[in-house]
Order: sequence, then structure tokens, then C-alpha cells
Amino acid sequence: MNKRTSKDQILQSKFEELEKKNDESLLGGGENRIEQQHKKGKLTARERVHLLLDEGSFEELGKFVMHRCKDFGLEKEYYLGDGVVTGYGTVNGRLVYIFSQDFTVFGGSLSETHAEKIVKIMELAMQNGAPLIGLNDSGGARIQEGVLSLGGYADIFYRNTLASGVIPQISAIMGPCAGGAVYSPAITDFIFMVEQTSFMFVTGPNVVKTVTHENVTAEELGGALAHSTKSGVTHFACANEVECIKQIKTLLSYIPQNCEDDAPPLSYASNEDELRPALNDIIPANPNQPYDMRDVISEVVDAGSFFEVHKNFAENIVVGFARLGGRSIGVVGNQPASLAGVLDIHSSVKGARFVRFCDCFNIPLLVLEDVPGFLPGTDQEWNAIITNGAKLLFAFSEATVPRVTVITRKAYGGAYDVMNSKHIGADLNYAWPSAEIAVMGAKGAAEIIFKKEISEAANPSEKLNEKVDEYTRKFANPYRAAHRGYIDEVIYPDETRQKLIRAFKMLENKVAKLPRKKHGNIPL
Ligand code: HXC
Repeated sequence: MNKRTSKDQILQSKFEELEKKNDESLLGGGENRIEQQHKKGKLTARERVHLLLDEGSFEELGKFVMHRCKDFGLEKEYYLGDGVVTGYGTVNGRLVYIFSQDFTVFGGSLSETHAEKIVKIMELAMQNGAPLIGLNDSGGARIQEGVLSLGGYADIFYRNTLASGVIPQISAIMGPCAGGAVYSPAITDFIFMVEQTSFMFVTGPNVVKTVTHENVTAEELGGALAHSTKSGVTHFACANEVECIKQIKTLLSYIPQNCEDDAPPLSYASNEDELRPALNDIIPANPNQPYDMRDVISEVVDAGSFFEVHKNFAENIVVGFARLGGRSIGVVGNQPASLAGVLDIHSSVKGARFVRFCDCFNIPLLVLEDVPGFLPGTDQEWNAIITNGAKLLFAFSEATVPRVTVITRKAYGGAYDVMNSKHIGADLNYAWPSAEIAVMGAKGAAEIIFKKEISEAANPSEKLNEKVDEYTRKFANPYRAAHRGYIDEVIYPDETRQKLIRAFKMLENKVAKLPRKKHGNIPL
């Protein structure tokens, strides 16, 4: 920062005092602790803020805030800023609010004043309609402050909840995040974690060992890998902090500032009539053979624009943001390359959460459907596939953004209804000629409805094949549904992109309202 001088001696000494305080606050917990932070492969709170925001755009608020604790020796230990850097700035020219916890000050732990600083930023973000980004690196509640710290957490959780659906909220975990502290990120829309240097858990390895006798490391229990593959708590696992911040910027480019706003379009050299011939050869001749739905997505959307969310969790459904003719859309696709694209508990919850985010923030939804049904089994039933599958059904049914479905192959059973069918409010449904829209696969259907005929036949397996053929001819196609108008058009795969660009443009000014209510009661 440039030194200020005054010809007046008294003023000059006041300027020097301010300069000294500014310098002190920049050092957080001091040079030694900054060095320790760097040795762990971590950036400091301020370095992170500067990496994320446009150069020179950061305006810090509350730089000189100090804690008020008089217990356990804290009355002798003060750091300006009290362990969190807060303020606002821009990312690619767009306003964001940010807090970044400073591990060099009492391990980034949350005191009453630390919480007050975060709350102030959250309220500004809500009132002014811009995203809130929280960079978390904290040992949790400031132990010396007791209930004041717990109160501070609750103040944050409450505002996270009020802000939900009003402004996008993004959390990055860049160090420890343990105990009740995990619940603020959990309420936000997206969580990023950094591999090896961050972890999240409600109870740490020591408590786990005492209670369940399991031996796990912090990384195994709550590292980026565990939460991006097993629990789904984190949406993005990043190799390092620089990558994490880059990904946050990419995510921001697809989403609007607030719920009244639209995502910013990118200028796009429009060629709406462009055919994508590669799509004509994507569906294998054998209906049981897998293919990668990501190949369909990348052919349909603007080149290189697909930004996948929750990539390594519940891989039987693919969700993410993309651009179509320059406009931001949310894509939900069944993934035949994983568990045949079946819907199960995790994929239903993953899909539902994504659909609700898009609907909160006016992002139109494209659904690419190839689903053989819901996953059978005691594990699924006893862990409530009924309730969890209903989440996806509820999320689609409630979404008022433009919604378009393309059925590429299977649309069987209840999963046909759930995956953004017209019956639950989709605006347009297309099907490829390879679509099979039926209650179930032909073999299963033939075995049930022709059971008696097959068992009494001289050659049961020949009879079964004959009946499978009959059912396939009648139902394993898109035409029955098209006759009813459940499918608006059966299209050639190569014209999908063109149809979708036109469809979303046509739906651009869609106005749809839900019945007046306080709020719905999604099956939790
Ligand atoms: C006060 C804390 C602190 C905390 C760390 N420090 N956590 N000070 N309150 N919660 C201080 C340490 O005393 C140390 O100070 C400095 O931060 C760095 O900590 P280290 O232990 O040296 O760092 P490291 O080895 O990297 O370990 C980090 C850690 C560990 C894993 C986070 O510090 C830890 O386990 N802390 C306690 C975590 C905890 O139990 N928190 C309360 C959870 S309950 P010096 O001066 O030595 O540098 C909770 C309830 C929230 O959060 C409920 C909300 C509803």
C-alpha cells in the first residue's frame, strides 16, 4: 500500500499509526505461523482472497476487529481481524462477498467477533444480491469462548438458511472443518475440498476410535476423496488450492448473482442448424450395451462447455452446467456406463439437489434419459429408496424453469415418470428413434404377462423369444408415447443440438407459478 504523508506533524503520526495497524493486520498470526501454513502446502487466508478476486478489487471490512474474551490467557493475546478476512470484490467483473478464515490466528477458530464479521458479510450479500464465498480453514469453535462461539455458529447457520435460494453460496474447505462447523458449508449450495490438506467430519478419528473402535486417519475419514466419492458431501475435489480457486471461478461463470437474475450469457457464434452426425452412432445396437452419456452431452452442448458437478459420486447419474448457444443450462443425464444408468438412493439425491439449485437460480434444465428403472434390493429398500427416489420426483415436479427431456434409449417404469416426463411438468420431450418407452424391459414383461403361455409351450424358451419379440415390436419404441403426445417429436440424434437451441430459446420467457403455499414439504 502507498505510504501517505501529511505536512501536519500530528496528522502524520496518525497516518503512521494507521499504517502500523494495517501492516499488523496483514500478518495475521505472525510470520512464523504463516511459514508453518506454507510448509503444510496451504496458502494464507489473504493469499486465497487475492487469488480468487480480480486484481485490486478486494475491499476488506472489519480489518481491526478483535476478540472480547478475557479467559484462559486470551486477554493477553490479540490479533487484528480475529482470524477471519472478510469483504467484497469482483470475480471476472462480477460482485461477490467473501470470508476467508485465517488458520494462523488461533487455528482459524470461530469466536463471537469472528462470527459477527462473517454475519455482516452474509447480510450484505443477501441485501445486495451477490454470491457469498466462504473459504474455510478452522479448528472449529474457539474453545476459550465456550457458548459465545456456539452462538456465533448458530448465527451463521441461520443466515445460511435464510440466504439459501436467494443468493448462491459456495464453500471451499481448505483446512480443517470439524464438529458442528461442518453444518454451515453443508447448507450452502456447493462445497469444494482440497485433496490432502482439507478434511470435514462431525467427529474426528480419536472419537471414532473410542466409540466404534475403527482406526482411520483424518484423510480417510473426511478427506476430499472420501467426501467426493463415498458421502457426496463435497461436489468438487481439487488437487490443490490454486486448482480449487480456478474451479470456483468457473462455477461462478455459469450462475446468476441472485434468484431474480439470469446467468450471464456468453457471446456465441450462432449456427443453430449445425448437425452433430457423431450422435447417430452413439447408441449401441445391443440395448444392453453401455455407452457414455458424457459423449452425448459434449456433442449436444457448446464445445468444451460441460462443467461436471459431483463427478465421482453416484456415477450412474451425470449432472453439471453447460452452455447451449451461449446460454447457461443445467444438464441431468442417466449414465448407462455406470450400473446401466439405474436410479438408486445416491443418484436420486444427487440429481434432486442439482435440479433444485438450477430451479432456485433460473437455470433451464436439460434431461438426457436412458434409465432402466430403480435399483432393486434390500439395501435400497431398507435405506429408503422410496423416500429418496421421491426427492428427484418432487424436485422435477416443482421446478418452474424451462425443462426439456431427450430420451435416448430406455425410459422404463416409474423412472420414465420421474426423469422429467411431460406428466410432471416438462415443457418439451423429445425421443430418438432408439427410445424404448415402456413399463419394463421386453424380457421381463414377456415373462410376466405370458407366464402361463410360455410354461405350457412345447418349447418354452422359443415361446419366450417369440413373446419378447412381440413385446419389443409393440412397446420398445418411442411411437406409442408419441401417439399420445407424451413425446413431442421423435428426432434424429444428429439434430438434437439444433432442436434444443430452438426449444430453449422458445421457452426463454416461460412464466410458471406453483400454487400459493408457505413452502412444499419435500420428502426428506
Ligand atoms: C482455540 C485453537 C482451536 C480451537 C486450534 N487452535 N483449534 N484455539 N480454539 N478450536 C489453536 C491451537 O491451540 C494452536 O495454537 C493453533 O490453533 C494451531 O493448532 P495446532 O493444533 O498446532 O494445528 P494442527 O496440528 O494443524 O491441528 C489443527 C487441528 C487441531 C486439527 C484443528 O488444532 C485441533 O484438533 N483443534 C481442536 C479442534 C476442536 O476440537 N475444535 C472444537 C470442535 S467442537 P498455538 O498458539 O499453539 O499456535 C466445535 C463445535 C462447533 O467446533 C459447534 C457448532 C454448532
